[in-house]
Amino acid sequence: MSTAYESVQIRPVREEDRHAVMELAAQLAEGVAEWRDPEAVVEAARQWLAGFFAPTREQQGAVFVATAEGEVVGMVSVNTHRHFTGPVEAYIGELAVAPHAVRMGLGRRLLSTAEDWARQQGLRHLTLETAAGNTTAQRFYAALGYREEAVRFTRVLEQQPGTGY
Ligand SMILES: CC(C)(COP(=O)(O)OP(=O)(O)OC[C@H]1O[C@@H](n2cnc3c(N)ncnc32)[C@H](O)[C@@H]1OP(=O)(O)O)[C@@H](O)C(=O)NCCC(=O)NCCS
Repeated sequence: MSTAYESVQIRPVREEDRHAVMELAAQLAEGVAEWRDPEAVVEAARQWLAGFFAPTREQQGAVFVATAEGEVVGMVSVNTHRHFTGPVEAYIGELAVAPHAVRMGLGRRLLSTAEDWARQQGLRHLTLETAAGNTTAQRFYAALGYREEAVRFTRVLEQQPGTGY
């Protein structure tokens, strides 16, 4: 059972948070489909985040961290993308709270900060994807007023010998 922190701060990420943010990314394979490589999921998230930390700041968008008692215990990344119907929307790329800090309201506060960022950009929608097996995240988003918009189906195909990518 978690205990509440005395004080939590949500602030834009800094260079010195890099290691902690990369550690938090390890949780991003939660509930991933059995036909996906969980390490590749985590690696993809880390690469996006590394681009954000790069001196040339290769990524647009924003990354915020939650800190408690001097420790980074959560992070969220938010960016923009264009929906196929045309409008540019805000998009949550990564959201993770340290296992020892869940159910204290940090996820809620991080998401709220991403929503504020999106509003400041003048964007009307904030969207995200989560794995079908990640029931915790689905309950979390539903509790915060997010509504399911699309469901993606995948069929794993048998390959003919000598073909495939
Ligand atoms: C999903 C995640 C970010 C939630 O963060 P959190 O800080 O624990 O969430 P909060 O404490 O702000 O919870 C807000 C509300 O969400 C709901 N909720 C959160 N976790 C839940 C769970 N395990 N089961 C049911 N409801 C849950 C509750 O309604 C909760 O309010 P309450 O605690 O007052 O009942 C966190 O579990 C996490 O980091 N998971 C691993 C990484 C991940 O899956 N990220 C999302 C990928 S898209």
